[in-house]
Amino acid sequence: MRYLTFALGKGRLAKQTLELFEKIGITCEEMKDKDSRKLIFTNEELKLKFFLAKGPDVPTYVEYGAADIGVAGKDTILEERRKVHEVLDLGYGRCSMCVCGYKEAVPLLQHHELIRVATKYPNIAKDYFYNTKHQTVEIIKLNGSIELAPIVGLSEVIVDIVETGSTLKENGLEVLEEVCPLSARMIVNPVSMRMESTRIKTLLTKLRAQL
Ligand code: PRP
Repeated sequence: MRYLTFALGKGRLAKQTLELFEKIGITCEEMKDKDSRKLIFTNEELKLKFFLAKGPDVPTYVEYGAADIGVAGKDTILEERRKVHEVLDLGYGRCSMCVCGYKEAVPLLQHHELIRVATKYPNIAKDYFYNTKHQTVEIIKLNGSIELAPIVGLSEVIVDIVETGSTLKENGLEVLEEVCPLSARMIVNPVSMRMESTRIKTLLTKLRAQL
């Protein structure tokens, strides 16, 4: 039996995924050692390997088959547009992709004005404004602290993740439109899906029962 390899997005998502896996009897003791500098962890008994990657890199590892299975946020999956099968909504990491800004930006959205949109997710923003809303906008790519953009006058609105809404609230900004709901998803390499279909289907059945 060959190893099935999992790529997990570093951070809270990986922690929640490992907790879920524990519940269906998949453990990886090696991974719990906080002092370890190891990058890849093995469960010899079940012939599984796990590694942690930057969230946006997870679909890349899965598309190329360096990982058979990945867990990433729906935001990352939509933005990266990799050739992977999305097989399961894991239900955690729930939040929304939203257009946000000051209340004053509402008429600019309603009247389809040529506005500037700052975001870490240019593909998602482009798809929403061009294909869903049919509004021509200028997309400005940022790498973080997106809420700053309307405050300092870089853009009229932002497209960003809203979880509790507290970042927006503390900065006088609001959700103006919802783009789509988000949560953690399991993705599978298309070739692995065929070659390892029995093992992957068994895993999915167990996960579905647990969720
Ligand atoms: C995310 C997101 C928002 C914030 C939303 O940023 O981009 O800024 O969390 O969460 P809230 O609705 O609960 O306030 P993150 O902390 O990941 O950092 P970033 O600004 O570097 O993207």
